[in-house]
Amino acid sequence: MTAATTTPVRDEDDDRTPATGDPFDRDQLPTPPGATGTLLRSLLSPLRGRVAVTALLLLVSQAAVQAGPLLVAYAIDRAVPAFRGDDNGPLIAVAVGYLLCATAAGTLQYAFVRASARVSQDVLLDLRGRIFRHAQELSVDFHERYTSGRLISRSTTDVESLRELLEEGLQELVMVILSAVYISLLLLWLDLGLGAAAVASFVPLYLLVRSYQRRAKRVYQKRSTAIAAVIVKFVETMNGIRPVRAFRREAANDADFAVLNRRHERTNGDALLEMARYVVGSRVTANVTVALTVLWGAYRVADDTLALGVLAAAVLYLRRLYDPIDRLGMFLNSYQSAAASLEKIAGLLAQTPSVPEPASPRELPGRRPGLPGREVVFDDVRFAYRTGGEVLPRFDLTLPAGQTVAVVGSTGAGKSTLAKLLARFYDPTDGRVLLDGVRLSDLTGRDLRREVVMVTQEAFLFSGTVAENIAIGRPDATREEIEQAAKEIGAHDFIAALPDGYDTDVRKRGGRISAGQRQLVAFARALLADPAVLILDEATSSLDVPGERAVQRAMATVLTGRTAVVIAHRLSTVEIADRVLVMEHGRIVEDGSPSELIARTGRFADLHRAWRDSLA
Ligand SMILES: Nc1ncnc2c1ncn2[C@@H]1O[C@H](COP(=O)(O)OP(=O)(O)OP(=O)(O)O)[C@@H](O)[C@H]1O
Ligand SMILES: [Mg+2]
Repeated sequence: MTAATTTPVRDEDDDRTPATGDPFDRDQLPTPPGATGTLLRSLLSPLRGRVAVTALLLLVSQAAVQAGPLLVAYAIDRAVPAFRGDDNGPLIAVAVGYLLCATAAGTLQYAFVRASARVSQDVLLDLRGRIFRHAQELSVDFHERYTSGRLISRSTTDVESLRELLEEGLQELVMVILSAVYISLLLLWLDLGLGAAAVASFVPLYLLVRSYQRRAKRVYQKRSTAIAAVIVKFVETMNGIRPVRAFRREAANDADFAVLNRRHERTNGDALLEMARYVVGSRVTANVTVALTVLWGAYRVADDTLALGVLAAAVLYLRRLYDPIDRLGMFLNSYQSAAASLEKIAGLLAQTPSVPEPASPRELPGRRPGLPGREVVFDDVRFAYRTGGEVLPRFDLTLPAGQTVAVVGSTGAGKSTLAKLLARFYDPTDGRVLLDGVRLSDLTGRDLRREVVMVTQEAFLFSGTVAENIAIGRPDATREEIEQAAKEIGAHDFIAALPDGYDTDVRKRGGRISAGQRQLVAFARALLADPAVLILDEATSSLDVPGERAVQRAMATVLTGRTAVVIAHRLSTVEIADRVLVMEHGRIVEDGSPSELIARTGRFADLHRAWRDSLA
């Protein structure tokens, strides 16, 4: 990934203004309106019953929790005077009642926390699975734009912030709100004046929370963008570690990373500062309210218009009301960052594949015996990537079944683009790509992958054994078939020499295999898959001469019996082709057999002469 060496970093808070018209340039995909709500509903609706039970547990447990101060009031105003008058019944009743309530509250809260934890774990499990499945389904086109760093940040940081909310914040947030409702009602019932005073104190608290929320939202958005930028830079750099080393980009990358890291630190500091302001404000409001209540209550107790027990209960309730208000800010924060994360995830999940499955798929006719491969037709195809101009303007090409075609041309001519259209990584902007007369877009993904296989330059190996890597071509292949394919390709000898032979793990030490050997494994995989059409985008990097010979031989084997398109960077490859296409600027400028083109005086003849001279 060369992005690691080129991504410019600007030390600005440019997260809100898209730098270009391309929405993918921003960290956040444009989330369609309503997508977040739809996602939330679809996550919770399968758990409806359990959510209802959880809510019920909360309601009942909070009622038990809030009984305490009421019993204290009863004890002071009734039970203690009765006890003085030698009646210990009420006091015992209060003690027993208090114990019962405490036990019930504890048990119910335990049940509530368990139930809500189960719900949130299920939601998170579902969400992680959806992100992975969905990202994997999205088209190549999407992944070429939306970096893997961003995807990682969606499925780690964003899911994590939801986890924090669900596991730590949400229950307390709901409890705080519910207890505020209970306490206000109880206070109003105990004493209208005290109740009204407590409710009135909500006004400054509400204003405080509102202003904090507004500021925090801004700060937290910046912070999450800053975190994402740190992750993206990290992942891109490490993915591109080879070019980074080769071009000595370490110092420049360090500087870029330092800028991003500092921006993250600064946004974190801003967030903490907002938090501190809020905590101070809420404590001052709470303590002033309590002090005024005690003062006013004391006067009224002295006037005999208020019972001492009721005042004691009121003060206890007020403490209960204000204690968690400090933390309310924190819960709101985690609520806000979770909401922002959920929005980003919803944006990702709302993306639709740009090469969709057909609504009513068509079947290909059976492969004609004796005539291997299938006919490929590009019918008046035009193609442009989302960004940039037209890469293929009006492209017509017919490849008869079984033909091996070499495509040559200068860099950027559109050769790989042609291959990607044939593999249906993209759909043409206009025109049709046909396989035996059937549009590629009318085939199911499964049929298409069976018919058309593309071996790319990277010759990617998955973690697992060599045998497993070959079997990707046909998962139900037996060990004999796998070894047979490797033998035909000429890969058997080197595989057998690996520490564990075919069972060598390609990612473990000792399983390291060279670029040429990787190509051979990729060919064995393609041979086993036995597609009707094979596309090879040949590696530009040159292998050593014995390696190149082995790859050439293997290529000849894998190409026979099918329609083949080889994007050739070596003229030695062209010699095994039936037909050569020379492409320039998205057009075919020469078309003929290798010998025909050499005999002419075109580009290919020039290239060929230069190559011959270099060999001499
Ligand atoms: N994902 C993409 N998004 C936008 N433009 C692209 C994308 N991939 C390729 N292009 C552009 O399309 C044009 C053709 O690219 P293509 O990869 O098909 O060239 P090529 O003939 O395979 O070149 P090479 O020999 O270097 O592999 C180039 O101008 C390139 O910049
Ligand atoms: Mg290419």
